[in-house]
Amino acid sequence: MDLSDKHIVLGLSGGIACYKSADLCRALVKLGATVQVVMTAAAGQFITPVTMQALSGRTVYGSQWDPREHNNMPHINLAREADAILIAPCSADFMVKLAQGGADDLLSLMCLARPMARVPLLLAPAMNREMWAHPATQRNLRQLQLDGATILGVGHGDQACGETGDGRMLEPTELALDMVAFFQPKCMLGRHVLVTAGPTYEAIDPVRGITNLSSGKMGYAVARAAREAGAQVTLVSGPVALDAPRGVTRISVRSAREMHTATLAQAPSADFFIATAAVADWRVANSAEHKIKKDGSGQMPQLQFAENPDILADVAQSERARSGALFCVGFAAESQDLLANAQAKRQRKGVPLLVGNIGPATFGQDDNALLLVTADGVEEFPRDSKLALARRLIMRSAELALSLESTGASHA
Ligand code: CTP
Repeated sequence: MDLSDKHIVLGLSGGIACYKSADLCRALVKLGATVQVVMTAAAGQFITPVTMQALSGRTVYGSQWDPREHNNMPHINLAREADAILIAPCSADFMVKLAQGGADDLLSLMCLARPMARVPLLLAPAMNREMWAHPATQRNLRQLQLDGATILGVGHGDQACGETGDGRMLEPTELALDMVAFFQPKCMLGRHVLVTAGPTYEAIDPVRGITNLSSGKMGYAVARAAREAGAQVTLVSGPVALDAPRGVTRISVRSAREMHTATLAQAPSADFFIATAAVADWRVANSAEHKIKKDGSGQMPQLQFAENPDILADVAQSERARSGALFCVGFAAESQDLLANAQAKRQRKGVPLLVGNIGPATFGQDDNALLLVTADGVEEFPRDSKLALARRLIMRSAELALSLESTGASHA
């Protein structure tokens, strides 16, 4: 559970989005966090403390005069226990209060009294689109960022008032994912990570094609982990049944040649290229424009094949990759002799890191086991969830890239 050792103070200020805070509280608890709810009086107009108490399993705080605290200082005690304070919803009015250092109720008082170096403050604004776009709100937002708050952004869509635009509170699942990401180490901050994922599909005719069993789960986990680590992530994906990870730019492609074109267009701005896609080595050279019909002869039509471009090898041979400016990671899905195949493949593709896994044992599964092969040796990542492995791989790739940069060593 991604938040299992975290204690989060969930603050609610007044807004209709308070109804979503119940789900958010539940989502954070499900991820393992302990959640202490603090509500303003205005929030109490939209949702009751009883609901929030039942979902968090803790009595809710609302007053700075709460007699439950032996020293009568809930603003000090609550802020010091927290690993993070998340205000969701954060109303326009509460943003004003925070920006000005106001402290006339428990929630604002607690935010002002938080130890800034140790307890981060995250805000999920929620308001009408005109209020959100107003220069005063945007000014307060900038001030809050300057003061060290993390703004989680707003959603776009239908609003409770009947208007449509920016200003909705992000959905509880999105905010929960943002909290998980927030606590991950930022080992790729500001880097551009390019990932290929999933299978490719090579058409035989307009209704049939050749593909493989890759589900894309490992590549999508890598993209998510890179994003969590602070990178800007571009995911070039073959056809899969997965949602794009939060905050990741997805480019959907079908064939190996489409994947090749999309990837090579992104590579010049990338710092890391992680090729997890199961790319078809061959395409049908004589694919038909119209559906191939049986001709009554009992003979299967003869398919001819042409070799597809090798995306990883092409990127790895680029000037930037050879100079170490672009760190390339290959994957090898093998069915046997993992170590020997992975070592040979690393040399053949000319990449500093090749990650081996047993394809049939992992396709479609939520877990995997990895073997990392570099010029210096071999490292095993034992069986774990694909997300946990992806996070370790991202961390390891960042370390290896850094050591290559500092030694200026040739990678392959
Ligand atoms: N790859 C690629 N483009 C291709 C084929 C493979 O980018 N046309 C990448 C994969 O994404 C993976 C690595 O190369 O990172 C190894 O893929 P794999 O299919 O295991 O290797 P092949 O080069 O196809 O070798 P073989 O089929 O002989 O095992």
